[in-house]
Amino acid sequence: MSRFSLPRYPLIQAPMAGGITTVELVAAVANAGAVGSFGFAYSTPDVIAAELAQCRTQTDGAVLANVFVIDEPAPPSQIDREAACAALEALAFPGVVYSEPEPPHIADVTAQLAPIWAQPPTYLTFHFGVPSQDIIARAQACGIAVGISATSPSEAKESEAAGADFIIAQGIEAGGHRGTFEAAPRVDEALSTLTLTKRLNDNTSLPIVAAGGIMTATHIKEALAAGAVAVQMGTAFLAADEAGTPSSYREALCEVPCRETILTTQFSGRVARSLQNEFTTKMAGQAILPFPIQNRLTGPLRSAAVKSGTAEYQSLWAGTGVADIVQGPAAKIVAQLCSDL
Ligand SMILES: Cc1cc2nc3c(=O)[nH]c(=O)nc-3n(C[C@H](O)[C@H](O)[C@H](O)COP(=O)(O)O)c2cc1C
Repeated sequence: MSRFSLPRYPLIQAPMAGGITTVELVAAVANAGAVGSFGFAYSTPDVIAAELAQCRTQTDGAVLANVFVIDEPAPPSQIDREAACAALEALAFPGVVYSEPEPPHIADVTAQLAPIWAQPPTYLTFHFGVPSQDIIARAQACGIAVGISATSPSEAKESEAAGADFIIAQGIEAGGHRGTFEAAPRVDEALSTLTLTKRLNDNTSLPIVAAGGIMTATHIKEALAAGAVAVQMGTAFLAADEAGTPSSYREALCEVPCRETILTTQFSGRVARSLQNEFTTKMAGQAILPFPIQNRLTGPLRSAAVKSGTAEYQSLWAGTGVADIVQGPAAKIVAQLCSDL
């Protein structure tokens, strides 16, 4: 029997690491009849434990937790480090000092999962790869349905073979990091969400959740018609009242006319979709370090930009559908999207 079941609505508010997916957002979405998700990739085990506990006091609805599956990158050479720091220094953002962060650069996933085993959410999903067999078995023994992001049919096949319960089909339109298993795949077909959903539906027996560029009730219906059992929507919740999105980031998302989105590696070292800003323009083609070292290296700049209220030097993750973004309480966003499903 499939471990994957849905609450009232076939809608997952996407996990979004970095302070966006607050307890209030997750609980509001879950209470509205959809799935509320935590992006825990950059969170410490203590924070994960506290947020899961706090969430349970606010909802008994469907909750999802998400972490990354990545390897510790090889240490960059002195020349590469200096070039990456010099590129950032040339931006001349006042008051920011760049020093190469100390390893380890990746979170200890075993430690991050401990509070998840203690307070099991409904779903646990992984981005950038397939977790170990032990992790998948442990999650399933806790009654958790395991999902893995896939950007191609071969990644979906690998996830199915590893024993996942469902696949998140992440199309090229998606905001935030593209979840390719390899940081720089030799071939990336860059499939659209609908094409990928159809292909995965034909090629795997697992339930498919479509993600990328889905912003309206019509988009949800198209994804379901393409064979998805549900959708995962990130950008649509970035301007929700309960989201942790900084105000200058919200303003950029809601600008009329809307800025273009682009794929960039410059913030973090991996391909991600962001609104265009001064950082993406000035840093295009400049030296960077591998993910997630570059992410840590640009951290002080991004934090300083949030503090000073400028969107120009923040990572403004957003999908191609950003022009359809709406503001307001998360429950209202869910209700508007799902009322006639
Ligand atoms: C701000 C932001 C942060 C994201 N962080 C994560 C994350 O931590 N883990 C993850 O699996 N996906 C993450 N994603 C990708 C989403 O899971 C999803 O694939 C994407 O939001 C779908 O495209 P959309 O933004 O057009 O709805 C993030 C997306 C955004 C916009």
